[in-house]
Amino acid sequence: MSRLSRTESVDDLRELARKRLPLAMFDFVDGGSESETALRHNRAVFDRVRFRARTVVDVTERSQEIELFGRKSGSPFAISAMGGLGTLRYKAEVALAKAASDARIPFMLSLGANCTIEEVADAAPKARLWAQLYTFKDDRLNKALVDRAAAAGYEALVVTTDSNVFPKRPRDRRNGFSFGLKKTPRNIWDVLTHPRWTMDVVLRGNVGRMESMVPLVDGPKDTHSLLAYFIKERSPSLDWEALDRIRRMWKGPMILKGIMSKEEAVLAADHGMDGVILSNHGGRNLDYAVAPLEILPEVMDAAGERLTVMLDSGFRRGSDVVKAIAMGARTALFGRPAAFAVAAGGEAGARHLVAMFQDEIDRVMGFLGIRTLEELGPDFLWFDGLAAGEALSRRNS
Ligand SMILES: Cc1cc2nc3c(=O)[nH]c(=O)nc-3n(C[C@H](O)[C@H](O)[C@H](O)COP(=O)(O)O)c2cc1C
Repeated sequence: MSRLSRTESVDDLRELARKRLPLAMFDFVDGGSESETALRHNRAVFDRVRFRARTVVDVTERSQEIELFGRKSGSPFAISAMGGLGTLRYKAEVALAKAASDARIPFMLSLGANCTIEEVADAAPKARLWAQLYTFKDDRLNKALVDRAAAAGYEALVVTTDSNVFPKRPRDRRNGFSFGLKKTPRNIWDVLTHPRWTMDVVLRGNVGRMESMVPLVDGPKDTHSLLAYFIKERSPSLDWEALDRIRRMWKGPMILKGIMSKEEAVLAADHGMDGVILSNHGGRNLDYAVAPLEILPEVMDAAGERLTVMLDSGFRRGSDVVKAIAMGARTALFGRPAAFAVAAGGEAGARHLVAMFQDEIDRVMGFLGIRTLEELGPDFLWFDGLAAGEALSRRNS
């Protein structure tokens, strides 16, 4: 039995990834911002939601399919955008897109990916691909990227709204990490003592380069020059007018990722968006942010009929996904579990992770006494002092 097939949880995959990666790479994925309170809080909130099962129900036939933007999705989860995955595993994004494709779930490609928009589409031609965009001051850059995603057949455009300024992540600072490693004695030692990682990632060149940005830049195209260009051209002035302009550039479903209030969810619908992903960026940006699960009920009340409401941040088990669906979300997404899986086992790791989530969701459905996810509602949940959840179950009882 391989070490991968012995992993039974995201925690196990995280442990395998930790052994395989130099500390700076592991911390880049694992860490959060400032005191990491938002990161821990995302998990704590899931722990306060419990199940109330129906047990005398025939659950011989179970299906976890859902409908998402007019198409069937194999499961109620998707893989969220992550930049820099090429620092963990060569062509990590292709591995994830292929696994997602076979499971018929969406894969969101980050603008900071180390494979291009086109390369991922070519490698996984049947995948449901979503293109994630960080907006630039210059609309010509936004348009060039949006047009490339459309030409490559991406299904949806996801604009990240929660990253107007750059976060303070103490682990990255301590480790000298910014999409590449500073040459400190500890990092050099770490690279030398992880030869498998070094051969897979470092010796194949351009570690951590934002590949989709390469054609947009006239000057030097090494990893650090591209990052510097990205930082210079990014705009902290993202507003609804900028989003209106991008909305006009993109014909398909457009989603805002990082919305964290009912007020902005309503505005998203008013401005013609098709969906929102409630997200605190996995506790990587605004420390002390509330967890998306806590604001899900108020967002559903305010805009649930006009928008496809999704969320990420902290999903680690099938049961977490089922809780979010029972509270009204259409689908859940996760980041770190996919990063750990691909670091631990490449494409096989990605497939293993997807199968693990599917299996757990299927079992939870069986135990809860439901055959389809449409049967779920807040009456299947019990909230341990979680204000938003308690209000939700009072309203529905
Ligand atoms: C290593 C890493 C890189 C990320 N890069 C991006 C990115 O480029 N764009 C983006 O919108 N979100 C990015 N995110 C945030 C994820 O899309 C997602 O919101 C977050 O990981 C969800 O929390 P989880 O990791 O607890 O599942 C990144 C997250 C991680 C862990």
